[in-house]
Amino acid sequence: MAADCLRGAETAPREPLGGCATADAHPNIALIKYWGKRDEQLVLPWTDSLSLTLDVFPTTTTVQVSPGARTDVVILNGVPAVGEPQQRVVSFLELVRDMAGREERAVVNTRNTVPTGAGLASSASGFAALAAAAAAAYGLGLDATALSRLARRGSGSAARSVFGGFALWHAGDSDLTSYAEPVPAAGLDPALVIALLDTGSKAVTSRAAMRHTVETSPLYRPWADSCGTDLAEMRAALGRGDLNTVGEIAERNALGMHATMLAARPAVRYLAPATLAVLDAVLRLRRDGIAAYATMDAGPNVKVLCHRQDAQRVAQVVRSIASRPVVVAHCGPGARLRTEAGRT
Ligand code: DP6
Repeated sequence: MAADCLRGAETAPREPLGGCATADAHPNIALIKYWGKRDEQLVLPWTDSLSLTLDVFPTTTTVQVSPGARTDVVILNGVPAVGEPQQRVVSFLELVRDMAGREERAVVNTRNTVPTGAGLASSASGFAALAAAAAAAYGLGLDATALSRLARRGSGSAARSVFGGFALWHAGDSDLTSYAEPVPAAGLDPALVIALLDTGSKAVTSRAAMRHTVETSPLYRPWADSCGTDLAEMRAALGRGDLNTVGEIAERNALGMHATMLAARPAVRYLAPATLAVLDAVLRLRRDGIAAYATMDAGPNVKVLCHRQDAQRVAQVVRSIASRPVVVAHCGPGARLRTEAGRT
């Protein structure tokens, strides 16, 4: 990582940063899911979504503008990226260059600590960090809302990782109106216990799966319609610090999203036998009086929402069921640029 080029202090620097910037961002897990785009090019979703940004699995990205270079270079975990991952980053840089009125290519160096493409939100932390670093390196002075809109263009869920804690992504109906913002949660400090059941890359990307679901699933519309109620009820529950209700809504919203995929033609199924075993364990925990609620994304891994003080007990139960690694996460920070001293 090019530590000697670290500049800037905020996500919204006013001055160009000498063409080099480094940013950190964390993944977020949606409690009300984003699943389905109304506009593929602008990445405008059909529904609002709400998430929790985590304090684990950060991505660190440096963007170095290289005058005279003929192509962009993208290094992912020390290895030159090729194919679709590289193309997505290059297209994103094109967008940033258009906004900045610049033409120079860049070297992008990314270190991802979350397994890539395993339904663990690597694209959220990845594009939030890339948006913050690229905007700074090309001298765009973006406020947090504009940064969220920019990150959205790389990957929808990245719009939410610009912010720490709970974040609500307004679906909007245009580039200008589709962005995330922080959501207050009265005194809530939950944990998310992540069962790493399978960290291999998924067979179908979330991008392809959500397109296929929107196009073919008879359950898509009813689920999308239900998201409005889920969101209103969850915001109220967050406002009064009611983890039980937040968890109940998160679990039903996630199961509903997976139902839309199972009803697609042909079906998309991310849930594995181990996923169902953990879901059973979560039900047993609830019967034993522990507030624990499950959510799953585009992969078999389960994230269990619970009170911070119950996290070790939940982790122990999940670990014994799954015999796989378990990570305990809490509320994490939003995307940040590093300063010269390496502080954020
Ligand atoms: C299931 O943000 O990865 O995790 O916008 O096509 O890049 P693209 O999709 P992405 O989808 C995330 C889907 C989800 C639910 C969520 O995070 O809200």
